[in-house]
Amino acid sequence: MDLYEYQAKQLFNRHGVPVPRGGVAVTPDEARSIAAELDTPVVIKAQVKTGGRGKAGGVKPAAGPAAAEEAAGRILGMDIKGHTAHSVLVEEATVPFEEYYAAFLVDRANGCFLAMVSTEGGMDIEEVAATRPEALTKVPIDALGGVDGAALARTAGLPDAAAPVLDRLWRVMVEEGALLVEVNPLACTTDQRIVALDGKITLDGNGLFRHEGPHGGQAAREAGRPVGEREAGCPVGEWAERGDEGDGLEARARRRGLNYVKLDGQVGIVGNGAGLVMSTLDVVAQAGAQPANFLDIGGGASAKVMADGLEIILSDPDVRSVLVNVFGGITTCDAVATGIVSALELLGERGRARPIVVRLDGNNAEVGRRILSDARHPALRQVSTMDGAAELAARLATAGA
Ligand SMILES: Nc1ncnc2c1ncn2[C@@H]1O[C@H](COP(=O)(O)OP(=O)(O)OP(=O)(O)O)[C@@H](O)[C@H]1O
Ligand SMILES: [Mg+2]
Repeated sequence: MDLYEYQAKQLFNRHGVPVPRGGVAVTPDEARSIAAELDTPVVIKAQVKTGGRGKAGGVKPAAGPAAAEEAAGRILGMDIKGHTAHSVLVEEATVPFEEYYAAFLVDRANGCFLAMVSTEGGMDIEEVAATRPEALTKVPIDALGGVDGAALARTAGLPDAAAPVLDRLWRVMVEEGALLVEVNPLACTTDQRIVALDGKITLDGNGLFRHEGPHGGQAAREAGRPVGEREAGCPVGEWAERGDEGDGLEARARRRGLNYVKLDGQVGIVGNGAGLVMSTLDVVAQAGAQPANFLDIGGGASAKVMADGLEIILSDPDVRSVLVNVFGGITTCDAVATGIVSALELLGERGRARPIVVRLDGNNAEVGRRILSDARHPALRQVSTMDGAAELAARLATAGA
């Protein structure tokens, strides 16, 4: 789960990484009051989960409250690479004397953590990495040994004052369960203070349960994590529950707990079990069409889950046919068939608009198939083999295209 800059800065603050004072505004008026309260020149920053905000005009300085209101008015609603700025961070302008770069990440290729630090931070770190890789210090991190901030700062040529900040950024990585912690720029002010002017954190979605509840949650305690004291006002669990903003299909699916990935094709796909769904994508491609999504409804394919899944898939305007491929196991085919029928009842008209090809096999397949044929639903077609079902779904999707 990617965090917004303001959320990342709240976590930095919790771990003692210095950040500018500031607050989040969703209206120009709120931006004005935050600037008035800060009583300093400020910077107004679009809160979007994508990079390159500065270059897109999403970061603007403002000398006082009136200018803050005006700048927020221009940034709120702005589209940055397909992400709408619904909020802005209004924070104290901190004039950087130098801008560094610091990041900790999971280095999947080498199966370890990696520190990347440079004295040449700012907006063009990608260019530095591409054109002058020697300016970017990369040091593998031993997961158990952790980071030696002092050694890292020295190797990368950062001032001593950066050492404790690097140590704390590593603590953010470990204690918050992050896959990425990146600060660009990590500023050094004229009076040698180190301040994180930007922050990007990706939390490991598999560890989000550790953030539930006011003190890290019962689940965290049960998992044996040293929970520690957590101050209020930094509700990672709540951020996770709220999920990503926006009404993209993936965000909607995530909020309903579905394992859904949008793809570019026309055949909507529902299956139970990730392996079966993966092979369903393959057979659809083999049959000459492209899958529109990956959707695994898991083992207990209840009517509700099936309805949620079909609803998400049928909301995709690119979908021209749907293939439901289920192998009955502990959840039997008749239970799945009942789920499909109730799902179609819940969906009403929307469930009739496009053909839905169903292949049921495995436990109680015969009973399941009969339930589906007895339903006499106009959108439903049944095929008993996976290849046959894929061929029909592909043909229906490409017909007239
Ligand atoms: N609080 C601040 N005070 C003064 N200058 C700031 C402040 N925050 C950001 N800046 C300046 O604006 C530049 C861009 O800000 P920031 O790094 O947050 O956005 P960005 O790099 O464009 O976005 P992203 O990192 O998402 O690509 C920084 O390099 C810094 O020079
Ligand atoms: Mg930045």
